Amino acid sequence: MTTDAGSSRLTTAEQAALTSGGDFWHTAAVADLPQIMLTDGPHGVRKQVSGADHGGLLASEPATCFPPAVALGSTWDPELVHRVGAALGDESRAMGVSVLLGPGINLKRSPLGGRNFEYYAEDPLLTGVLATEWVRGLQSRGVGASLKHFAVNSQETDRMRVSADVDERTLREMYLRAFQRVVQQAQPWTVMCSYNRINGVHASQDHWLLTRVLRDEWGFEGLVVSDWGAVVDRVAAVRAGLDLTMPGSDDAGDDALVRAVADGTLDPAALDTSAARVRALVERAVAALDPAATYDTDAHHALAREAAGRGIVLLKNDGGLLPLPRHDVTIAVIGEHARTPRFQGGGSSQMNPTRLDSALTEITALAGGPVRFAAGYAPDGTADEQLTAEAVETARTADVAVVFIGTAQETEGADRDTLELPAAQLALVARVVAANPCTVVVMSHGAVVLTSPWDRDVPALVEGWLLGQAGGGAVADVLFGVVNPSGRLTETIPLRLAHHPSHLDFPGEASHVRYGEGIHVGYRGFDAREQEVAYPFGFGLSYTAFAYGDATATAVDGGIEVRVPVTNTGGRDGREVVQVYASLPGSAVRRAPRELKGFAHVAIAAGQTADVVVRIARDDLAHWDPRLRRWAVEGGEYLLAVGASSRDLRTSATVAVDGDDTRVPLTAESTLGEWLADPRGGQVLGQAFAAAAAQGGGGLAGMAADPQIFMFLSGVPLSRMAAFPDSPFTAEAVAQLVAAANS
Ligand code: BGC
Repeated sequence: MTTDAGSSRLTTAEQAALTSGGDFWHTAAVADLPQIMLTDGPHGVRKQVSGADHGGLLASEPATCFPPAVALGSTWDPELVHRVGAALGDESRAMGVSVLLGPGINLKRSPLGGRNFEYYAEDPLLTGVLATEWVRGLQSRGVGASLKHFAVNSQETDRMRVSADVDERTLREMYLRAFQRVVQQAQPWTVMCSYNRINGVHASQDHWLLTRVLRDEWGFEGLVVSDWGAVVDRVAAVRAGLDLTMPGSDDAGDDALVRAVADGTLDPAALDTSAARVRALVERAVAALDPAATYDTDAHHALAREAAGRGIVLLKNDGGLLPLPRHDVTIAVIGEHARTPRFQGGGSSQMNPTRLDSALTEITALAGGPVRFAAGYAPDGTADEQLTAEAVETARTADVAVVFIGTAQETEGADRDTLELPAAQLALVARVVAANPCTVVVMSHGAVVLTSPWDRDVPALVEGWLLGQAGGGAVADVLFGVVNPSGRLTETIPLRLAHHPSHLDFPGEASHVRYGEGIHVGYRGFDAREQEVAYPFGFGLSYTAFAYGDATATAVDGGIEVRVPVTNTGGRDGREVVQVYASLPGSAVRRAPRELKGFAHVAIAAGQTADVVVRIARDDLAHWDPRLRRWAVEGGEYLLAVGASSRDLRTSATVAVDGDDTRVPLTAESTLGEWLADPRGGQVLGQAFAAAAAQGGGGLAGMAADPQIFMFLSGVPLSRMAAFPDSPFTAEAVAQLVAAANS
């Protein structure tokens, strides 16, 4: 049997074959269509040497290991992220890879999330803006992105079965919003569905998610690919809008599709459409292939170093200990991580770098004076008394000590169970600080760790994340001031894990996780509960200082324009990330106290002032109205707070925004309070009350005029009120009131 639309000339069996992979990393060769390669991603190309599977994660061809998303996101710099995306595109193309499996844009819901190092932020706007540029950069080179993992894949525990139970407003505003932005602004070639279930439905067979939201509402034009092994039921998946099952499925899946078409349980058009999308992807990819493509490994290493340097966040710098002088100082470099870098996380993104810089080598290269090394702890990060004693002595006899500490491992497939750094390394820090008060601590890890209370005793603290293959040089650049730090936190560092908004509902149990904190993810939750934090979202120091003038906000076509003069008042050129947080005092909707709505990354020379402009699209002010089941902008006077972090707001401005019509039709189930709050409803009801009073009845209406009794009655639906003795109206009259109020 053949079908006649889209992928015409393919039989049903061929269509079934085309809609699952040919092997682990390729589409299937069917009829005249060749195979194309899809591979991880996201921070470097992991092209498997032997065409094998996940086994032998490092058995991949060397490629540049750019900073994983945890560090790339901390740059808050869309232009830089675009360049990294383009470089990844160049490498993919040179390696014959047509789709690079990234970016990963799930929200960092809990700091324990095992894949947080692959994701950008706890905020959907920041995630969406950066990922849009990554996709644009990559796709500008004729290589497709795979926006993943769609959706609500914010934990690794039980990831193939767990149901993320989340209300629709939270889903739309927090967990889907970055996906929506990237789809609408960058049209990724593919979107990858996640492993988990959402409100009980597997993402791979969720028609609402994959078709109604993704295609019908957002206008996605590309192909939906499954995460590797995410498909439970091929027929249900195709029916839902899942086009390509990866990796290659066994023949049973193809046979099931053919049978379902034959027995009428699957609309042939659904399979035909999916096969047509695979064909379109293959044809587009083949047209873009260039066997002569190459890339410049040195230039890409330099870009990896630039991006890593810009992703480093300076958390503390008491007394201006940093930057270190390049001459006349003896530096003790302490910690195995300085010699053996932690530069990427484990799992499907783990790839084979073209080279690997250690901080020790790069500090030695940049330092003008002697550099002495001591490992301080065992290679696995645990205590070793002799190594500790040597390190303390090395620190004592140096002018300054730089201690490298970090987590042992973070990987896809497992969440973390603690935010604490290894105790042996913290004990080492304490002893080094006691031996030499001029101590800098550099941390390497993939997601937030606790810094309190030990950071109290450490004068300078550098957040070194996982920085990719050139991270060693980037750390040296920041330590010596070759790079003036400009990275900002994309996730809150809490004082304690128990303070985190997600704490009571992570990672769930019995294959369900309740997203109990709702829209109050990350800083939204800390702010709403007025919780002290160690370092707030958006925070990061510089070697210079920035002064903010008065902000102004004006309504412009399509949104709001915020302007603020920012002056570099220090002695060094630097970069500031100007952040704009919106709130709506008196809002009728439950909101976080502040929400990031825009930001600008600006380079400002010493002594100069930049007139910074941040544009906020009106759509970004919208909230999801669960009553109307659509986006709505609430009208009113918005407060735009402008500053250097979510808790360092320096100036603000207000602007009036016209709202959308959000009137919900009144019904018999609407309460007395809702009726009276509605202008038309209030009028109609007022007339009914007056009519009842004129006829000497309807005592309840009179009582409702008493403020205290009104409070008592305001939550009563009209239908229920009609049943009370002495009601001002009958059940039949309620139907007339409803018609009148909505006419
Ligand atoms: C991961 C994806 C990855 C895929 C292919 C899965 O286990 O969740 O992120 O792209 O494998 O390696």
